[in-house]
Amino acid sequence: MKRIVTILAASLALTAFTGSALGAEQGEAGKVLTKQQQQKMVNIAHRGASGHAPENTMEAFQKGVEMKSDYIEIDVQMTKDGELIVIHDTTVDRTTDGTGKVGDLTLEEFEQLDAGSWFSEAYTGEEVPTFEEVLDAFRGKTGILIEMKAPELYPGVEEKIADALIERNMSKPNNNKIIIQSFNHKAVKKSKELLPNLSHGVLTGGSWANVTEEQLAQFAAYADYFNPTMNIVTHELVSDVHEAGMDIFPYTSRTQEQAWRLFDLNVDGIITDFPEHVYYHPVKNS
Ligand code: G3P
Ligand code: CA
Repeated sequence: MKRIVTILAASLALTAFTGSALGAEQGEAGKVLTKQQQQKMVNIAHRGASGHAPENTMEAFQKGVEMKSDYIEIDVQMTKDGELIVIHDTTVDRTTDGTGKVGDLTLEEFEQLDAGSWFSEAYTGEEVPTFEEVLDAFRGKTGILIEMKAPELYPGVEEKIADALIERNMSKPNNNKIIIQSFNHKAVKKSKELLPNLSHGVLTGGSWANVTEEQLAQFAAYADYFNPTMNIVTHELVSDVHEAGMDIFPYTSRTQEQAWRLFDLNVDGIITDFPEHVYYHPVKNS
């Protein structure tokens, strides 16, 4: 008995000490989350585990895998010479040592860029990966949530993404480890036509807080996921999305409290910079 009390006390102390790093057992209102609740929650490492390594780099994706995320989320755009490249912003200014628009730079120019040192000196020399490099490195190791970023800037990007997946035999039915999503819903529709066996998602921002059941039904005609900003998620929205036959993966959780709130709202997955906020932690909870 004394040993159990000691273990419990140590566990509580560890929670207090580590704060959000390990604690995934208590909900927003102090409610204890069950192991089952935590295990069924899909854990998506946003731009890789981007709280720990520079976003959209191989290091961030590798970290997402090591942290046992179910999916890594990646942003795909196109270079001037038509190569698919993994980067979030439509310019390289924020996340590399270069400047300019993604679509004005060639692949060779991308290869000269340092995508790590803005985050920390420890990541100096980290490269901007191509879409194909990410597929080849991570297929079979984790799910990949592919965001077509600003596809309206890159005519033909949907076809190029589809070709890369088809070439690798990654477009088969029941491949639930690949999901394609975008804020550009026309592009999602087009991608669904090209890859009818793969799951697709519509991304939505704050202006969709009052999405109607009719609009959700229209999305559900070609999408399997309705992925909104976490700020608009309510119990009602979650149940409407489920009623429409879709799942819901809100973005982007950056604190433990935000993850807990989403747990309490019964979403299906959480897109997070910190995968450790989402998963069941056996050492602590058993
Ligand atoms: O996957 C959803 C999320 O990535 C959308 O927002 O701006 O981080 O690409 P953003
Ligand atoms: Ca994204």
